[in-house]
Amino acid sequence: MKKIAYINERIKSFNKKIYVPGDKSLSIRWILFASQAVGTSTAYNLLKSEDVKSALNAIKKLGIKYKINKKICKIYGRGLNGFNYKKNTIINAGNSGTLARLIFGLLVSSKNQIILKGDKSLSKRDFSRVIVPMRMFGQNIKSRNQKLPIKIKGTDYPRPINFYEKKGSAQVKSCILLAAMNTPGTTVIKSIPSRDHTEKLFKYLKLPIKILKNKKFDFITCTGTKNYKGFNYIIPGDISSSSFFIVLALLTKNSKILIKNVNVNKSRTGIIDILKIMKAKIVLKNKKNYNGEQIADIFVRNTNQLKSINCPLRMNSRSIDEFLLIFLVCAKASGVSKFNNIGELRNKETDRLKFANKFLNKIGIKTEITNNSFKIYGNPQLKLNKTYKIEKFDKDHRACMLSFIAALSLGGKWVIHDIDSINTSFPNFVSLLKNLGAKIS
Ligand code: S3P
Repeated sequence: MKKIAYINERIKSFNKKIYVPGDKSLSIRWILFASQAVGTSTAYNLLKSEDVKSALNAIKKLGIKYKINKKICKIYGRGLNGFNYKKNTIINAGNSGTLARLIFGLLVSSKNQIILKGDKSLSKRDFSRVIVPMRMFGQNIKSRNQKLPIKIKGTDYPRPINFYEKKGSAQVKSCILLAAMNTPGTTVIKSIPSRDHTEKLFKYLKLPIKILKNKKFDFITCTGTKNYKGFNYIIPGDISSSSFFIVLALLTKNSKILIKNVNVNKSRTGIIDILKIMKAKIVLKNKKNYNGEQIADIFVRNTNQLKSINCPLRMNSRSIDEFLLIFLVCAKASGVSKFNNIGELRNKETDRLKFANKFLNKIGIKTEITNNSFKIYGNPQLKLNKTYKIEKFDKDHRACMLSFIAALSLGGKWVIHDIDSINTSFPNFVSLLKNLGAKIS
């Protein structure tokens, strides 16, 4: 694949219906759950991206067979703790923080040592967040500076834990839940709310889980070692991938878009609520429940009446992967937008707060940044006519795709490097943009 894209003109108005690929969080979770089921599981519309390939390779290395064709993927699970592999097997999680963190949970009582590795960006990221709870379960972990590569060996006697998850991280919560699934006794997690696909899968598979919520926290209780049968699952479209098209339609004169069959789980739709507070015109149509998740079609139309936002803290985890796009919308909104407690953005595929700050300054937007907060001085008249070069973003797929949306909605001449990074989550992103009329070479 070509590594550099050139965009020299804005996209013309469009009015289209599109489908985005399957949800990444659900695709990876389906693979991990199916690997532990008894018998065959089948998924339809599994995302075909690099992160998902890494997850399939990982279970294969652990002795689980799978078959994949255009439409369906089948995984032949061997039950809880059914992995079968040689000592010092290497698992390469590639760019996927979700795979790397969740797999710790499934290895809570693995017999042989695993060496878990990742690409350059993943090797810079923090793993203490999963190392701490997994050591409480009794897992043996050897690492230098709490970073990959990490050696993991399970314990013969995993013990259930009580854990307070303070970051609002679904990866940490899910890692603990997967470990709890393989551990006799009852594990209790008090957590800042975050995406709840793992809990929903527990319920869908009728695994013992109880969830109590108050305004601030979720209290999750889960009892382990109950086997479950292979299961079928249709993966709905990814709200995070949809968001690039939501923002493109919002910022492109006279445009409309209908995005079909998207997972609109409440714990993921912060971007829609934030944009609505900013006066965006977004409607969810055909809401349906499916496999314990909610799906809908998302309709968006352009507006030039966008207002700034003082972003409520409860939105942070609900829109954690969409902040780069939200910041771009703030650049075009009237007034000063404010975001607090968003330091977690510094721990993503790249430091997204630092990237957003540089990016907005490059396109002439004033900002104020601290370790944990961000202010954006919007300019509704913003139009670009210079040349903008986007490079050195640690191959962060979302930083790369953001640059396409800025280029197509704001104008100017853009040279975007490392576009192969998009394959991490959304391989047909560029072809979908071209279908809407974007000129990209
Ligand atoms: C994810 C959780 C989030 C998110 C990531 C996917 C998941 O990470 O940023 O892209 O599927 O559980 P954190 O748990 O670090 O917030």
